[in-house]
This record gives sequence, structure tokens and C-alpha cells, in this order.
Amino acid sequence: LATLDGVVPAPARTQDRNTERPLDAPLPDRFANTADTDASLPANRDWGRLVLERARDSRAGIDLLEASRIDDTGELDAVLRSAAEAGAAWGARSGAERAEILHRAGQMLAARRFDLIEVMASEAGKTIDQADPEVSEATDFAHYYAEQAQALDAVDGAAFVPARLTLVTPPWNFPVAIPAGSTLAALAAGSAVVLKPAGPASRCGAVLAQALWDAGVPRDVLRFVQVGEDELGRELVAHAAVDRVILTGSYETAELFRSFRPDLPLLAETSGKNAIVVTGSADLDLAVRDVIASAFGHAGQKCSAASLVILVGPVRRSARFLRQLEDGVRSLTVGWPQDPRTQMGPIIEPAGGKLAHALTTLERGEHWLVQPRQLDDSGRLWSPGVRMNVKAGSPFHQTEYFGPVLGVMTADTLAEALALQNGVAYGLTAGLHSLDPEEIGHWLEHVEAGNVYVNRGITGAIVRRQPFGGWKRSAVGPGTKAGGPSYLMGLGSWRRTRATA
Ligand code: SER
Repeated sequence: LATLDGVVPAPARTQDRNTERPLDAPLPDRFANTADTDASLPANRDWGRLVLERARDSRAGIDLLEASRIDDTGELDAVLRSAAEAGAAWGARSGAERAEILHRAGQMLAARRFDLIEVMASEAGKTIDQADPEVSEATDFAHYYAEQAQALDAVDGAAFVPARLTLVTPPWNFPVAIPAGSTLAALAAGSAVVLKPAGPASRCGAVLAQALWDAGVPRDVLRFVQVGEDELGRELVAHAAVDRVILTGSYETAELFRSFRPDLPLLAETSGKNAIVVTGSADLDLAVRDVIASAFGHAGQKCSAASLVILVGPVRRSARFLRQLEDGVRSLTVGWPQDPRTQMGPIIEPAGGKLAHALTTLERGEHWLVQPRQLDDSGRLWSPGVRMNVKAGSPFHQTEYFGPVLGVMTADTLAEALALQNGVAYGLTAGLHSLDPEEIGHWLEHVEAGNVYVNRGITGAIVRRQPFGGWKRSAVGPGTKAGGPSYLMGLGSWRRTRATA
């Protein structure tokens, strides 16, 4: 399996993958984290009602959408050139000045929580319980990168020279947290930003941009543009004024961007085909819970989602595990996000192509533990599915589907499970459920993924605690991780200010 065609070899490891600290560094004694601590939130039902009320008359972002469309080359060229000029002035400000604005941005995002949840629910189909932590993640990014901007001032004998202009092209699946993180990182580094939202989530991007302006980010330093994914989109990516591109999207999109401009300085977080391994020593109740949350959160539309679960040794035939998995998946309430009972929302567009195939068609030897069903005429509401007997090297083992379907694989030993888990082209997230320290140690030593989690779900990386980014075909560019200590370093370079002795 390790020699499957197309499998990219994993680079040598010198850092802890989840913290980017050198492997031999001592552990910090505490972690800052706000993403999972907002205990004052009302119950989900109350949230639902409040969001619904807000949605009735919300026009957040709509006017900006109208004003930000760019239709011709001349206009695009003018916007990019003026943004690059503004970038030079922004980069000349001290890190402390930029940090102050970024902290205010964090406060503003928190203050706009309702608007942001509403637009994620109504435009991008995010359920309230998925959209709410996304706002927290965005605020975490603001405060974390603000601290980093300030740290740039403190380096003696060298100055950080930021990219003048960074193009940010985020995905639709995390339509607030990812554009916020990429934009705030570039601003913290001292670069101007042109933010081009993903088509299906452009109003989310508009509400975000407005919040950042209202917090004090200068309008000429952050530009919000809507450009079609046609010839003009190609010109945007390839434009000479663009010094960096932060892309979150598929590996194919990263390759397309490179084909527009071969020397493109690209920081891309790309596709994943992620698995959770469950061994005989695992706490099975916990494992079932984490597998379901990781596979079906946001209907499986996360690059970090669990698309496979690999059952090892006795768990292969554990009727208890499979019954709990089946019951848990069948019990998920599927619906539209504005209904507070909804646990799993819609997919972004009517299922088509390879996802439709994965939701409707089995490969030889497979059977459904839970068969997915289309629930209405929209083509977007599907009940979740679980397919059994997925075989090594089969399409379901190898392909990213980005939807609510999980495959079950089996292995005799942990080594075999690792070969299945690593035997894909990507290396984004990976999970292990085991209570055996020897198994955990062995797995950590051999697993090939950017973010690795033991006895936890594999989505929802927390800024600063779990910097996020991939290996193999899950990353293109310098491989620096979002929400981690080195991310800003990919957005500029260092210049000596003092001669060496
Ligand atoms: N950072 C997200 C997660 O960890 C994916 O983009 O789920």
C-alpha cells in the first residue's frame, strides 16, 4: 500500500505536528483557548429563535455584494495596483499599531456573532452549532495574529519585510473562520489583502469584510472583490501586483492556480482523505461519538472530516460498535439550519458527480450499514450514510467526496490499519482511538498527516493549540500552519538591519 501510485512520500519529521514545536521542546504549562469556552450561550433552541428573528430582516452584506463586483480587466488592474500601494504604507506601520487594530477586529467579530451566524446559516447552510464556534475561531485568529504582529517588532537586528499584496481565496465550507484567519494573518504580517470570497458564500465574506473595516482596518488595505471564476479570475490570480496567494480549496485548484502562473507564491491548504483508527483497547462509546461528529458535522463538508473509520482486531467484529454507530447515525436529525432541531444540515448544492455516485452506488463487496436517502426535491438534503467493507485501493478508499457518507474498513493489526490510513495521496487529519500507550506511541510515530488526534474527533482544530495544515497533497507551498507560530513567516521575509560581526 505504501507504494500505491500517486502516494506522495511524507517528509522527515522534526517538529510536533500539532504544535510545530521542536520534538524535544518542553510542553507549555497552559494553553490559551476561547473557541470552546463560551459557557454563557443560551441553549440551542433559544439560539435558533434568535437567529431566525435576526434573519427575517437582515440585509447584512447585501449592499456590499452589489458594489464589489468587478467585470473588466481595467478595473481589476486599478484595484490591485492601489491595494499594493496601500500595502506598502500598512507594512511600514509598527507591528504594535497593526496589533491594536487586529484586537479590535476580534472584538468586532464577537460583537457581530448573530449576523455572522445568520449569514452562515442562510447562505452556506451551516447549522447553528457549527456556525457558532466558527465565529469563536475567527476571533481567536484575530487575537492570536495580533500577538504575532507585535512580536515582529521585537526581533533585534532584523526587520520583517511583508508581501505588499496578498490575495485570499477561501472556500465556502468555513465561510467566516477561514477567510478571517487568512486575511488577519496577512494583515498582521503587514500585507494588504484582496479578499475574493467563494461564490456560494460571498455574502458571508461581505459581512466579514464589513466587520473588519468597522474595526478600523483601512478600506484601501483590505479590498473585497467579487470576480467570476472565468478569464478575469485567472487574471486576478496571475496578476503581477499579487505577491502571495492564500488558497484553501482542492488540490486540483492549487494546481490550476500554478498553471496560471508557474512562479506563484502559493500557500495552499488542500484536500484530505482522513480516517480514524479504532483499536481493541479503545473506549468504544467515545470512539462512536467522535467518529459520528467528525464524519457528519456540516454534512461531511470539511477538509478535516472523517471519511473512513478503520476497525482493528476485535473491533472488526464488534456488534456493539456497529450497532452504536448505526443507531447514532440514524438518530441524526437532518434539516435546514434555521430549524433549531437540525443536527445535520444540507450539502452546498444538489449532489452531483462523484458525491452523487458515493451516495447512491456501492462498489463490489460493499453493503450499506445505513443507506443515505435524498430527503426532498432540493437535492441538498440527504440522510447520512455508512458503507461497509470498503476495500484497500478502491475509489472510496482513495477519493475525497465532501459529503455525508462514511466508509468502514477493517484491519487485523494496527500496522495494517496505518498502511490503510497512510495509503492515500493526502495527509491532512488523522485520528486514533486507543487507550494503550504502546499503540498510541507507535501510531504517533508512523501516521502521515498534518494534524493528528488521539481520543478526540478530527475536526475543529483550535487556534494556537492545534495549528492546522497538511502533509503530502493536503498542502502546497511552504507548509506553514494556520493558527500556528510560523504562519506569518510565509507572508514575507527577513532583512538584516545590522551588519554581522
Ligand atoms: N480547521 C478546520 C478543522 O480543523 C478545517 O479547516 O476542522
